Amino acid sequence: MERIQVGVLFGGKSAEHEVSIVSASSIIKNLNSQKYDITPIYIDVHGKWHYLELIAVQDLSNVVREVRMIKGRILENKCDIAISSNIGNPDKRLDVIFPIIHGTLGEDGAVQGVFELLNIPYVGSNVLSSAITMDKEITKKLLQQHGISMTPFISIKEHEYTPSNQDEIIKRIFSGVSFPMFVKPANCGSSIGINKVKNEAELKGAISDAFKYDQKILVEQGVAAREIEVSVLENIEDYSTPIVSHPAELIPNDEFYSYKAKYIMENGARFEIPANLPASTADLIRKTAGEVFKILECNCLARVDFFLEQGTDRVFFNEINTLPGFTEISLYPKLLGHYGIGYSKLLDMLIDLAQNKHKTRQNKITNSVEILSTIQQLK
Ligand SMILES: Nc1ncnc2c1ncn2[C@@H]1O[C@H](COP(=O)(O)OP(=O)(O)OP(=O)(O)O)[C@@H](O)[C@H]1O
Ligand SMILES: [Mg+2]
Repeated sequence: MERIQVGVLFGGKSAEHEVSIVSASSIIKNLNSQKYDITPIYIDVHGKWHYLELIAVQDLSNVVREVRMIKGRILENKCDIAISSNIGNPDKRLDVIFPIIHGTLGEDGAVQGVFELLNIPYVGSNVLSSAITMDKEITKKLLQQHGISMTPFISIKEHEYTPSNQDEIIKRIFSGVSFPMFVKPANCGSSIGINKVKNEAELKGAISDAFKYDQKILVEQGVAAREIEVSVLENIEDYSTPIVSHPAELIPNDEFYSYKAKYIMENGARFEIPANLPASTADLIRKTAGEVFKILECNCLARVDFFLEQGTDRVFFNEINTLPGFTEISLYPKLLGHYGIGYSKLLDMLIDLAQNKHKTRQNKITNSVEILSTIQQLK
């Protein structure tokens, strides 16, 4: 049987560069080598693409270190890749790409657009869904329309936040949201630019801080809550019934799950798998996660994060990640492992889903010649 040519795309310019390297190492180690021929493709911190040879990679960090000394093939920019139409290597056609770049340019539809142009199947959500889910404001507004509960928030665009307008905007914040508040960039991740604000004196500073990272920010009502996360996997048999893991609880060792807790502190957080929850609460969270996945038209995989308010047990949607951390110890694969889908099996399922999604799309009439001839036949 011919092996499936899989490109694993990793690295990238976002703050989650190093996590991506570890995720890709785990993926490459766990892809069944009888079934797949793997090509690692590394995007360095400057955005340059490197096409790597896979020589018994145990830990991609070593390979990446070599690449940083400018080995391997360097592609100047993404246009080169689009033009060559087989991700840079004239001798090899990739059957499917597994992008595992978290955050900006990896998870937001940008790189997914490149795959669409190349007409290559890829793991994960499409351009539209990736772009929507990267934007916390658009995601929340869409979900609100479908009755998904969340904490009150307002969004502010940088062009509105002029010195003469600031007091008006602060008033608007107070009419919808009270302390403590969370001020965050609309399109970011890793808790970068996020501040918990407890009083008015801190508010303007937090707003300026968030605007360092994005042109749009959110001011959210803070809730005293347990943080509950679930893994969702698309069901290849029936899109309307996604596979949803049991919930996990994330317990940060900081005041909230900050950048420091995520990446700097030795024991920044711990996870409880499964979360200790009443069955009815766990069921509600799992059901809501499946709904969120479908409303946002996600594909393949997503991790959906919730708040469970202390005292009231109300469940609020917090956010969704369409390319969550994928190291062997990351929550996304661990939760599915707990559910009974092991890491290698999960990779098989994701690659099947990617190829299936592509095939379904190919069946649609999209090119102008076919469209015209179909319309002619209808006449
Ligand atoms: N409204 C809120 N109420 C209480 N805590 C909050 C709120 N918003 C954010 N937090 C805290 O801040 C953390 C980071 O917020 P959020 O998940 O929105 O950011 P992120 O940077 O997109 O995260 P990720 O890296 O998971 O994509 C949360 O895990 C939680 O600890
Ligand atoms: Mg988060």
